[in-house]
Amino acid sequence: MTEKIRLEAVTKLFNTRGTTTVALKPVDLSVRDNEFVALVGPSGCGKSTILNMVAGLMPASGGRVLYDGAPVAGANRRVGYMTQKDTLLPWRSTADNIRLALELKCRRTAKSEADDRVAQMIDLVGLKGFEKHFPAELSGGMRKRAALARTLIYEPETLLMDEPFGALDAQLKLVMLDQLQRLTQDRRMTVLFVTHDLAEAITLADRIVIFSGRPGRIRSIHDIALPRPRDVYKARFDPDFAHLHATLWDEMKDDVIAAGARA
Ligand SMILES: Nc1ncnc2c1ncn2[C@@H]1O[C@H](COP(=O)(O)OP(=O)(O)OP(=O)(O)O)[C@@H](O)[C@H]1O
Ligand SMILES: [Mg+2]
Repeated sequence: MTEKIRLEAVTKLFNTRGTTTVALKPVDLSVRDNEFVALVGPSGCGKSTILNMVAGLMPASGGRVLYDGAPVAGANRRVGYMTQKDTLLPWRSTADNIRLALELKCRRTAKSEADDRVAQMIDLVGLKGFEKHFPAELSGGMRKRAALARTLIYEPETLLMDEPFGALDAQLKLVMLDQLQRLTQDRRMTVLFVTHDLAEAITLADRIVIFSGRPGRIRSIHDIALPRPRDVYKARFDPDFAHLHATLWDEMKDDVIAAGARA
């Protein structure tokens, strides 16, 4: 399998009002084509920063970020990025927010074709009936789903997702995990997925990268060899799943507790 994303000794410093924050110590990570990699770790360990650098929204302070073997320089148009904070435009309806990606990416999409794709996406994320609502008229979970539809509509080859399902209720989350698994497998997408939810990471990922607290560095990387397709509803009752969950939690709990104490 070929390599899609590569981080080589990537570091990140932020200078804000005279203070320097070391967000990331040297990070080395390689993500293969069609691989699903989850990043987990305590708040502030640099997970969103890594996605921002892969998306080309900010440069690394040291080291290199490569996509398909070439350094990322400027906005990386091969990736779809669902950011941690949703960026729906308040003056556009749900349907028009989702359509925006098509307008920006492929201006020549015919109106009727665009209408069909928007309708399909609305259906996929379960927002039928809310097409004309504005973002302020949606719940937190609905906004997340609208942002997901907007990211998926132009079928990027790689998805960067930053806690996409955090605001969803537990049952709806399972439905969305199931859809995401299907979609990314069918379309052979590469996914870099940030989550605080270990069970969600084990359900979806081929590999889980555990970060230690700030300044972030990779503590360990774990292969998740559970067979696919995974039943997102039943997976967590499998003894192998429970064993993985216990092992990974042991690995990360001290950092999570320390980050909680700092906060
Ligand atoms: N644009 C920025 N300017 C200054 N500091 C920043 C910026 N973005 C991130 N940081 C700092 O870098 C560190 C890592 O932030 P980041 O958002 O990557 O963490 P995270 O792992 O995504 O955390 P969370 O789980 O809370 O989302 C934090 O200390 C944060 O304050
Ligand atoms: Mg973050």
